[in-house]
Amino acid sequence: MSRPRRVSLVEVGPRDGLQNEAQPVGTETKLALIDRLADAGLRDIEATAFVSPKWVPQMADHEAVLRALMREGRGREGVRYPVLTPNLKGFESALAAGARDVAVFAAASERFSQKNINCSIAESLDRFAPLMDAAATAGVGVRGYVSCVLGCPFEGEVAPEQVLRVAERLLEMGCYEVSLGDTIGTGTAGSTARLFELLCSRIPATRLAGHFHDTYGQALANLLTALDFGIARFDTSVGGLGGCPYAPGATGNVATEDVVYLLDGLGIETGVSLDALVDAAGFIYGALGREPVARSTRALRARRQREAQA
Ligand code: HMG
Ligand code: MG
Repeated sequence: MSRPRRVSLVEVGPRDGLQNEAQPVGTETKLALIDRLADAGLRDIEATAFVSPKWVPQMADHEAVLRALMREGRGREGVRYPVLTPNLKGFESALAAGARDVAVFAAASERFSQKNINCSIAESLDRFAPLMDAAATAGVGVRGYVSCVLGCPFEGEVAPEQVLRVAERLLEMGCYEVSLGDTIGTGTAGSTARLFELLCSRIPATRLAGHFHDTYGQALANLLTALDFGIARFDTSVGGLGGCPYAPGATGNVATEDVVYLLDGLGIETGVSLDALVDAAGFIYGALGREPVARSTRALRARRQREAQA
């Protein structure tokens, strides 16, 4: 399969990125970040998660964030703001705040499923069923995630066949696409190729997305491997923010800037401005009091500084 000519990015920094931050980030800061990401040309910005505030305190302001975007005029025309919803309760709160796009999240590993959402894989799929019905009635699109597709922090290796089973089930239940999460970033170009070989033999590439955490520095290589299978949707995180609080040791997602730099170099369109992304990364890392993780951002910021001094 040849590489796509155009790729669409799902920016997950405000959710996957900020859910893992130890220091609190205010609602206004989150909204200002989301605004800058829209300025950069991103059209899918995962805004927050309607999960239990006891489990993930950083997402406790989910209602205020989504309401501001969907009901109080802070959102942009033409930008989608999907949110995570683990069950019907989360979906109903999201819908009340104006959600038009949500995502359910399952796992390919039993032990991770228990740690992350307190139930087995089969129970999680049962919980999604009434949510899927309610979403269909409300005309809300549902994306599906499968975590631990290239390794589990508790079980180690995960068989591609197990990923396929969960992904197929989510699609049968009505998800419009499934995002495959390398939650702990242990995948390599080799294991990514084996996974996509199987999945793409059973599921059209247009219904799959890649979600690569960069814990072992392999995320760009894994993304490029998926691209060669015709995958044209990737989840990325501004500055390289991110991790999952229930996946010990996992660091951020592949950085949006690094991916845009890679795709620009391949002549693959994203509609996203690298320069504006560097500004957005500077903004959120400024608020966090750290330097962005993204290598391209650090290089571009250093170049800007040199040019300003010249
Ligand atoms: P539970 O304790 O089994 O749920 O948690 P429960 O139904 O027994 O309810 C217990 C309490 O939670 C009750 O409150 C409920 O009202 C409340 P209490 O009576 O004790 O005050 N509750 C909720 N509150 C707010 N929103 C809700 C909700 N549901 C119940 N939707 C639950 C089950 C799923 C809620 C919990 O385990 C949870 O919130 N987990 C969150 C896990 C999470 O957010 N993980 C990170 C995101 S996934 C990820 O990062 C991976 C991904 O990026 C892909 C990848 O990288 O692989 C997507
Ligand atoms: Mg993730």
